[in-house]
Amino acid sequence: MAGLKFMYFLSIIVLLTITTGSGCIMASPPAVKGAYWPSWSETFPPSAIDTSLFSHVYYAFLMPNNVTFKFEIPDSTAVLLLDFSTTLHRKKPPVKTLISIGDGGANPRQFARMASEAKSRKVFINSAIEVARKFGFDGLDLDWESPKDPKEMEDLGYLFKEWRDAIQKEAKTTKKPPLLLTAAVYFSVEFLWFEKYRKYPVAPMKENLDWINAMCYDYHGYWDTTVTGAHAALYDPKSNISTSYGLKSWIRAGMPRHMVVMGLPLYGRTWKLKDPNLNGIGAPAVGLGPGDEGVLTFAEVVKFNEDNGATVLYDVETVSTYSYAGSSWIGYDDTLSTTTKIRFAQALGLRGYFFWTLSYDDEWKISMQASRAWPIDELY
Ligand SMILES: *[C@@H]1O[C@H](CO)[C@@H](O)[C@H](O)[C@H]1NC(C)=O
Ligand SMILES: *[C@@H]1O[C@H](CO)[C@@H](O)[C@H](O)[C@H]1NC(C)=O
Repeated sequence: MAGLKFMYFLSIIVLLTITTGSGCIMASPPAVKGAYWPSWSETFPPSAIDTSLFSHVYYAFLMPNNVTFKFEIPDSTAVLLLDFSTTLHRKKPPVKTLISIGDGGANPRQFARMASEAKSRKVFINSAIEVARKFGFDGLDLDWESPKDPKEMEDLGYLFKEWRDAIQKEAKTTKKPPLLLTAAVYFSVEFLWFEKYRKYPVAPMKENLDWINAMCYDYHGYWDTTVTGAHAALYDPKSNISTSYGLKSWIRAGMPRHMVVMGLPLYGRTWKLKDPNLNGIGAPAVGLGPGDEGVLTFAEVVKFNEDNGATVLYDVETVSTYSYAGSSWIGYDDTLSTTTKIRFAQALGLRGYFFWTLSYDDEWKISMQASRAWPIDELY
């Protein structure tokens, strides 16, 4: 018996050496199936969230005071935060909860001012940790869209380093598991914006974050009404503005694959066609289609298609779906394009996916299909 046991032990060592040596048959950390929850939604309380479909749900959003950089939580928000974390932790199965700080609409200059000095970073970090613990959250997420130049990108790196240090210290003192720390980032690691080159500080990000949420959507929209577009295209034969390019750019820049989470939109973007007979991706347009700023939730897209007898097409080249009826045109993802993207992310060895936002789905159709497509605890 002892001999056998020893042999078994030896074989494990050999196996471990082989697998870590080749670096491709290692068990990866559990998949992330994230989703942001819009706290302003009046029709979608935390109790309505189907927790069997997600591993992490983000409360969107909180912002600190723009002068002190501390979080000042009004009573109504406190009630919501507590309800969110308590409800999602008590559900079967429970999910992890994170507070997302920021949002696309938040003033990015406010983050820039906060991150520019050690003193204000410290106030912000300590206040964020305090709020997360007070309301029973498992982690924090930063959604700064986005640092505008190399200096702000450098400050972002300092912020993450000091934030992680503070989280470790707090966990040691309180003997609680450390808070998770994640960030919502641009789809690509580097980009030109208003002629200015920016690149995320990958080294401090990979050392101090649990993972990044790459926002792989909004490649086309109301800012260009001259042509239709697949706003979350997996591939774009004509440009680098695509999910496949963006995700690979993070990996090329040194972000470990298991720290990259792919963003998926549960909404479409619409245009008004110039000529209803020219109705493909990249067709001439003269304005926006239905929806506020040309945005329809996936549930609204499904309804629009039904009500208007729209033609629905899956585009193999971009891996996206579009529909049109008369001069209205919608580019979006359905269960098929979403599943294809998930296969792509799995093949790339990524950690998982997240949705913006879970309340936009149509009776959980896409969330359910996505969750089925990516079994948790999968071995590679
Ligand atoms: C802070 O927010 C207030 C209220 O929105 C605004 O009036 C003020 O200009 C902001 N201050 C700074 C420094 O941005
Ligand atoms: C895409 O990016 C690569 C480098 O990653 C560059 O060589 C190429 O020119 C870019 N293509 C376009 C169309 O911008």
